[in-house]
Amino acid sequence: MTDPAPLSPSTHTPPRRYRASGKVILLGEHAVVYGHPALAAAITPGCEVWHAAPAAPGLSLTIAAWERTFRPDDASDLGRALAALAETLGVTDAALEGVLHLPGGGGLGSSAALGVACARALLGGDDDLERTLAGALAWEKVFHGNPSGVDHTLAALGGVRRFVKGEGASRVGLRRGMTLVIADSGERASTRDMVASVAAQVAHRPAETRRTLEAIAALVRNACLALPEGDFKTLGDMMNLNQMLLSSLLLSTERLETLCAAARGAGALGAKLTGAGGGGCMVALCPDEAATVARVTAALTALGAPTRQVEVTP
Ligand code: MEV
Repeated sequence: MTDPAPLSPSTHTPPRRYRASGKVILLGEHAVVYGHPALAAAITPGCEVWHAAPAAPGLSLTIAAWERTFRPDDASDLGRALAALAETLGVTDAALEGVLHLPGGGGLGSSAALGVACARALLGGDDDLERTLAGALAWEKVFHGNPSGVDHTLAALGGVRRFVKGEGASRVGLRRGMTLVIADSGERASTRDMVASVAAQVAHRPAETRRTLEAIAALVRNACLALPEGDFKTLGDMMNLNQMLLSSLLLSTERLETLCAAARGAGALGAKLTGAGGGGCMVALCPDEAATVARVTAALTALGAPTRQVEVTP
C-alpha cells in the first residue's frame, strides 16, 4: 500500500467580507427628520458584502438569497443606489456580492447597512469614515428621498447613539446592558411614503404636528439622562409615550398596537414601533430577568410574529 499523497495547502483565500450594522430606533424616528434628536442602537450582524471572483467590468451587486443581480442600468432602486454610491466614491468597476441578516423594509436599517457595507467594499476598508458616510448617504437618498442620516450613521458607527441631523452621532453611555425583543409585524410600508405623510401633517396642521415632534424630542432628552444611570424603567416609559405620539401621527397600525400591547402584557418595560412605521418591526425593552425575555418572546410568537433578541452592551 502506498502512502496517501500529502495534502497540498489550499490556495483559495476567501474574499474579505465588509460588514455594517442594522439599527433599532429606541426613540425619536420622524422627529429626527425635523432636526430633533433620536436615540438608536446598532444591531449586528447587519449585512456583509464582498468582491465576487472573478471580477467583471462594470458595476453589479448580487444578492444570492433574492436570486438577483442589480446593475445601474436595470432601473431598480438598488441598481440606482449602487450607481449613486459608486459615483460618489469615484469607482467605475466592481462586482459585489452581499448577504443581509435583517429583514428588508422592516425598519431595522437593512438598506443603510447594505449601503455602508458596499461603500466599505468599494473603498477596500473601513478607515475612511467621511467617504463611507458620504457614499452611503447618496445610496440612502435613492430609497428615502431626504433621509435624516440616522440609519447609515448607526450602520457605520455601531453602538448606542444620540443622533441629530447635520450634527452627527454621539455615544450614549450605558451603565449596564439591556435586552430588546424585536418582532416583525409582517406589514410593509415605504419609508419615503411615511416621511411624506408626516410632512403633509406638518404642512396642514403645523402647530399641532410640531408640538408632537417637540414632545418626542423631550422623550429622547429624558432617556439620554436615564440610560447612563441604568434607569430602564424610565426608558420603557419614554418608549410607551413615544408610541402614543407616533400613533397620533398615524404611523402605527392595528397589528403594531397588538404586538406592543402583548409585549407590555408579558412584562416588557416599554414597546413601540421602530423606524418609519406603517408596519415593519416593533421593539420591546425587557427587564434583566431571562424569564421575562422568554415570556415576551413567547407572547409575540403566539401572535405569529417572527422575533429576535438583541443584547445591547455598554
Ligand atoms: C427611518 O429609519 C427613520 C425615519 O426617521 C426617517 C429618517 O430618519 O430618515 C422615519
